[in-house]
Amino acid sequence: MDKLRITGGSPLNGEISISGAKNAALPILCAGLLTADTISLSNVPKLNDIATTLKLLSQMGVRCDRSQDNAVSITADQVTTLEAPYELVKTMRASILVLGPLLARFGEARVSLPGGCAIGQRPVDQHIQGLAALGADIKIEHGFVVARAKRLKGAVVRTDMVTVTGTENLMMAAVLAEGQTVLENAAREPEVVDLAELLIKMGAKIKGHGTDRIVIEGVDKLHGASHRVCPDRIEAGSFLCAVGAAGGSIVLRDVAPDTMGATISKLQEAGIKIECGSDWIKAGMTGRPRAVDVRTQEYPGFATDMQAQLMALDAIADGTSVIVETIFENRYMHVQELIRLGANIDIDGHTAVVRGVTRLSGATVMATDLRASASLVIAGLAAEGETIVERIYHLDRGYEKMEHKLRLLGANIERITS
Ligand code: UD1
Repeated sequence: MDKLRITGGSPLNGEISISGAKNAALPILCAGLLTADTISLSNVPKLNDIATTLKLLSQMGVRCDRSQDNAVSITADQVTTLEAPYELVKTMRASILVLGPLLARFGEARVSLPGGCAIGQRPVDQHIQGLAALGADIKIEHGFVVARAKRLKGAVVRTDMVTVTGTENLMMAAVLAEGQTVLENAAREPEVVDLAELLIKMGAKIKGHGTDRIVIEGVDKLHGASHRVCPDRIEAGSFLCAVGAAGGSIVLRDVAPDTMGATISKLQEAGIKIECGSDWIKAGMTGRPRAVDVRTQEYPGFATDMQAQLMALDAIADGTSVIVETIFENRYMHVQELIRLGANIDIDGHTAVVRGVTRLSGATVMATDLRASASLVIAGLAAEGETIVERIYHLDRGYEKMEHKLRLLGANIERITS
């Protein structure tokens, strides 16, 4: 398994481009199942989760062509199987996103239940209940969600909690349903909006995306379209935390600062000087960050996907901060590893109290999930001496060439391939 070796202490300086958003690209690729025409996508990041999705679609008979320049085209004109097997779903929960499109277009789907994951239980009951409300006959059989419907029928669906992939799955199902669907308590994440924009280009009738009430008028058929995947706000936020921890001055290109309000204002509170244009962010940091409290929330609140990275910054901050994780029940797996680097953190249920220390010291640590890995890399950049981050396959699921981008900025980081 590959590792990263980081020698801390080098400030970050220079300019990098931010990749397309993983969490937008995943549902968008699955939306290719909704039509027999070609969907042409650009700015699709090269990540393991994207490769898994393309493998899943290919196994169903979908033609997936990927070019060097991050363009992908998807043609689902000869779908041969309506099943997502356990082997793929267990490696990536987002595979559940094929359920809505398969059911809507083909009237049938068999998708393995994802099972548990490192950051919590993460059930898919809301996806299932929502599809049942749209008229699907849906049951769990031998570990699979098995769904059937001649044609889905529009309905008012109110999810018990705000769910991002739940909203996406239901939106993709509703675009081909008969009549009107109203999704109440819908997720407002920019990635949901990006998916809605692609679906509209494909001929779907959607209003209210970006609010908590999405109204969809079902159509009989969708057609091909071209779309550029929106920038990855979590990757961008992670690099901002990195410069906050290591110091220096960086420019991020190909970003969407208007989707990063909560992150940017927290990092400014921590002392990072941030300036934004329409598609760039300039960030500079000197000295030690200030401790900042944070409570994770659904968009437009502070993203749970940024919590671990911000904690790395708080670990070396001047003062004590309180972090409250409200979205996932087990998202503090990075804490024990940050403590191995010398951080002073106490956990009580959903709350972490971080007492900033003046310096971290390099050690061997283990990545446990995607954002935890980024947090350890950020801490390693600030730590004295050498940090080895093991199990970085988690990082490769969601960050495109992270060590390459950090090296461009002057970090002392290398991949050790085993
Ligand atoms: C998505 C993101 C992930 C992010 C998360 C929260 C993708 C591919 N992944 O995950 O990076 O951390 O949103 O912003 O976009 N829940 C249920 N039942 C359900 C669905 C969700 O109980 O049927 C719960 C979850 O356990 C969790 C909360 O609702 O506690 C929010 O989860 P959800 O928004 O669904 O997360 P994902 O869509 O899986």
